[in-house]
Amino acid sequence: MAEGEDTLLRAALRAGVPWPYECSVGGCGACRYELVEGEVATLWSEAPGLSERDRRRGKRLACQSRPLRDCHLRVRLEPPDEEAPIPPRPMQATVVGRRSITPDMDALVLQAPGQALFRPGQYALLYPPGVAGARAYSMANLPNAEGRWVFIIRRVPGGAGSQALFATLQPGATLLLDGPYGHGHLRPGERDVVCVAGGSGLGPMLSVARGVLAEAGTRRVHFFLGLRQQAELGALRELDGLDPARLQVHTALSAPDPGQPWAGHCGFVHEMIEPALPGPLDQYDHYFAGPPPMVEAVQQLLMVQYRVPFGQLHFDRFV
Ligand SMILES: Cc1cc2nc3c(=O)[nH]c(=O)nc-3n(C[C@H](O)[C@H](O)[C@H](O)COP(=O)(O)OP(=O)(O)OC[C@H]3O[C@@H](n4cnc5c(N)ncnc54)[C@H](O)[C@@H]3O)c2cc1C
Ligand code: FES
Repeated sequence: MAEGEDTLLRAALRAGVPWPYECSVGGCGACRYELVEGEVATLWSEAPGLSERDRRRGKRLACQSRPLRDCHLRVRLEPPDEEAPIPPRPMQATVVGRRSITPDMDALVLQAPGQALFRPGQYALLYPPGVAGARAYSMANLPNAEGRWVFIIRRVPGGAGSQALFATLQPGATLLLDGPYGHGHLRPGERDVVCVAGGSGLGPMLSVARGVLAEAGTRRVHFFLGLRQQAELGALRELDGLDPARLQVHTALSAPDPGQPWAGHCGFVHEMIEPALPGPLDQYDHYFAGPPPMVEAVQQLLMVQYRVPFGQLHFDRFV
């Protein structure tokens, strides 16, 4: 993608059209539409967001379509968000910092022109060098006037994009950044906040927690972090410096190494939430991010088991 070559999704969002979407990378199918008239280029024809049935019925993905001339489209738009969305924009970013957080997660600090405008919990698209397509990564910091974008990125075994980012992105390297995107961002409110992070879901949950604790108000954050083994506990250092008077941290290890000490919860992170909270689940606003099985387990817990109103749940799936 080059600057000025908008996808249909980005052009719509930039124009303030409430086009439905989740992942922006062809994985979820939320941005489906029908092309009634006109011509579009398809960026990734095998994108898993479309089923064979969708393809037979002429459906397309707005995040994988680039209009070649005026088009007539059919799409069911979403009700507009209460808060005006921040229009995404593509920009050339430079790597200005990188450090290891766990054996398979690094923090990447990028510098881009202009202000870093996003809401805590949102994500941006990065274009890994030499790899087809974009990858979604959530910001771990707060919006700022200096143009700093911080991401926590997990190296996925066999994953083309994350492997390329780990192999090539050293300080001084440049890459295309496009954002912000995402609905799972921090909302204003009075209720205390629950953040549930699985693995690299740590990034957006850190941003949400930082956002809450930067407010003048009194709401507290209950932060639940799910990791696999003791070797990953270094991730907890990312929470250092957050106001301990308004933050409680709970950690679960899903596969602790029996040869190393661990007195905390053994199992999945969602199992800890209800027993650890001082009040009933519907007294909180819930934010969660991580691998799809974790997000589904938290959804099941909150929506089905405890009937927490949907308006109190905020998440983007890492499809
Ligand atoms: C909203 C959201 C936020 C996320 N935030 C984070 C985060 O903060 N930290 C983190 O580590 N991970 C995050 N992820 C996951 C991340 O985007 C990648 O899926 C992950 O790094 C694996 O990418 P990969 O290239 O290594 O693996 P691969 O298996 O090679 O790629 C998987 C991803 O790339 C897309 N893709 C694959 N091939 C193509 C192609 N030819 N053209 C276009 N797209 C293609 C797929 O849709 C899929 O999203 C997030 C995902 C989403 C949807
Ligand atoms: S937003 Fe286009 S497939 Fe997910």
